Amino acid sequence: MVRVYLHEVTKVFGKGAKSVVALDKVELEIRSGEFMVVMGPSGHGKTTLLRVVAGLEEPTDGEVWIGDSLVASPRKGVFIPPKDRNVGMVFQNWALYPHMKVFDNIAFPLKIKHMPKNEIERKVREIAEVLGIAETLDRYPRQLSGGQQQRVAIARALVKEPKVLLMDEPFSNLDARIRVTARAFVKEIQRKLGITTILVTHDPADALTLADRIAVLRRGVIQQIGLPSEVYDKPANIFVANFIGDINLFEGSIVGKGGEAYFDGGDIKLQLPPSAARNINAQSVILGIRPEDVVLSRESLPGNNDLIYVGKGTVEISEFAGGKFNVMVRLKNAEIKVVSSTSFGLGDAVDVYFRASEIKIFDKQTENLI
Ligand SMILES: Nc1ncnc2c1ncn2[C@@H]1O[C@H](COP(=O)(O)OP(=O)(O)OP(=O)(O)O)[C@@H](O)[C@H]1O
Ligand SMILES: [Mg+2]
Repeated sequence: MVRVYLHEVTKVFGKGAKSVVALDKVELEIRSGEFMVVMGPSGHGKTTLLRVVAGLEEPTDGEVWIGDSLVASPRKGVFIPPKDRNVGMVFQNWALYPHMKVFDNIAFPLKIKHMPKNEIERKVREIAEVLGIAETLDRYPRQLSGGQQQRVAIARALVKEPKVLLMDEPFSNLDARIRVTARAFVKEIQRKLGITTILVTHDPADALTLADRIAVLRRGVIQQIGLPSEVYDKPANIFVANFIGDINLFEGSIVGKGGEAYFDGGDIKLQLPPSAARNINAQSVILGIRPEDVVLSRESLPGNNDLIYVGKGTVEISEFAGGKFNVMVRLKNAEIKVVSSTSFGLGDAVDVYFRASEIKIFDKQTENLI
């Protein structure tokens, strides 16, 4: 197992006015054996990051390390080609060869290394066994389900026993139901082999369920690196907060009153808990609360330190969403999204509470978490 380290990696495509900065001083360490998920919207540098690690792109500046080897550094004139990096990659579209049987697809990286035939045979069967596709070796890719094709792509990446596994949106071609199984499977394989892995996705569900740690990219700039729970509960800024899940956002100002801090957002007014009130210097802020951290009640609730009363609202939408309800409550002119375990009727008058410990305050100017 090895660590992968990107030190201030910048990648610029093109020159002059038409140039695109795909990666901007990316500083990212993937620990030995770690499962790192890199997230970001389309066109924000995810594939480029993987290609730079694989050696399919040369960085414009910075250093890439795999284990103790410096594999790319323009300043030091170092560039180790992909074939000498011992990295396996599963591409965004899987890129299986349609005219080759599954066996030959998996064997391909070994054949180009001129490995002896019997050894290729043994290694291909071994990895096919691990991935549960041993019985498909004689078929063509088109004769496989999406999930099986994905496993073939993973088998091909793993067959040369790489030190690092890179996966680019490996679930994007799968329908929602298979995705869940495919995710569990990838996680299990990664655990079993203990291989240092970087997986790229724009789907928060992939990131939250798979990652040891998550890195969020925005226009080639890392916004935050952290445990899934950290990124979800303490998003570094509004971009991350929005990207990793649903969140209610209210603009307002902080007003001090007798040593305590209040949030005044016009329709939404509440007293901030000491935990959130601390450190606030900004006047103009954005308050964020995730739908599952809003609590609704038809009767007023007994005193509870973790619930802050916000006001009386009216239920406008209540939809069953399998084991939970997606509710929309109107409080004066503000609309609040709520995920609730109980159902409400349209027009129900409810008390609205926010879970104190989950209130997030962002500076309106910088959009950073305070
Ligand atoms: N070979 C290239 N030449 C010029 N520009 C490129 C090249 N490859 C990528 N880019 C640009 O770099 C930026 C980042 O692209 P990248 O493929 O890394 O995005 P991505 O996050 O993987 O997006 P997606 O989710 O759509 O796959 C984009 O603006 C893209 O147009
Ligand atoms: Mg991509």
